[in-house]
Amino acid sequence: MGIKIAPSILSARFDRLGEQVMEAVHAGADMLHIDVMDGHFVPNVTMGPALVKSIRPLTKVPFDAHLMVTHPQQFVKAFADAGADDLTVHVESDHDVRATFKLIRDHGVAPGLVLNPATPFERAEPFLADADLLLVMTVQPGFSGQAFRADVVPKIRDARTYIDRERLETELQVDGGIKVDTAPIVAEAGADILVSGSGIFPDRIAENLKAIRVAAEKAARKRGGHP
Ligand code: DX5
Ligand code: ZN
Repeated sequence: MGIKIAPSILSARFDRLGEQVMEAVHAGADMLHIDVMDGHFVPNVTMGPALVKSIRPLTKVPFDAHLMVTHPQQFVKAFADAGADDLTVHVESDHDVRATFKLIRDHGVAPGLVLNPATPFERAEPFLADADLLLVMTVQPGFSGQAFRADVVPKIRDARTYIDRERLETELQVDGGIKVDTAPIVAEAGADILVSGSGIFPDRIAENLKAIRVAAEKAARKRGGHP
């Protein structure tokens, strides 16, 4: 299976969100990344379940909701009901990760775990067998358009090595500063899913998405991890 691309709608034009979502879908987006911020876990406020619900009828492409919130357990039901297909929660949030994962699965949604740039890979290890996704942040969460942090690349490699060695099904996702120039770096390090906001939206959406995919797949082939 090839690399998956998850456009982050945080960088879309909200006055034309539906159109921009459909452009990304027609360009072959594998999932849509939805950045949820509560103004507490991160210093920004973005979108909630009402927005997810309003764009849900537009497409069957999976909705990947990234919860940058202090109490993710309080939002599971609302995002599940709104139509999220997976919910990724930060290990740094204030919750019992195992209990939140169970709650997410009980709502018929796939759970994933997120690591901030400063959080070591070891913090994820105890939960990975239960996680459908591991999201490694390559920027400090809060805003789109930040510069890619190359210092996180060794953690992506460590995660890839661990997932393969333990034969886990967990997909490895990377988020933050992914554009056509940085996509090959994370693909080569072993990422399965690349999130990109300002690398894809708001203009030339199809062109940007395809360029990122081509660059990433070329690097993944070089690594030999993906056919
Ligand atoms: C950052 C968000 C990212 C962001 C990515 O807090 O989690 O998903 O929207 O945007 P770019 O690709 O512009 O860094
Ligand atoms: Zn995100």
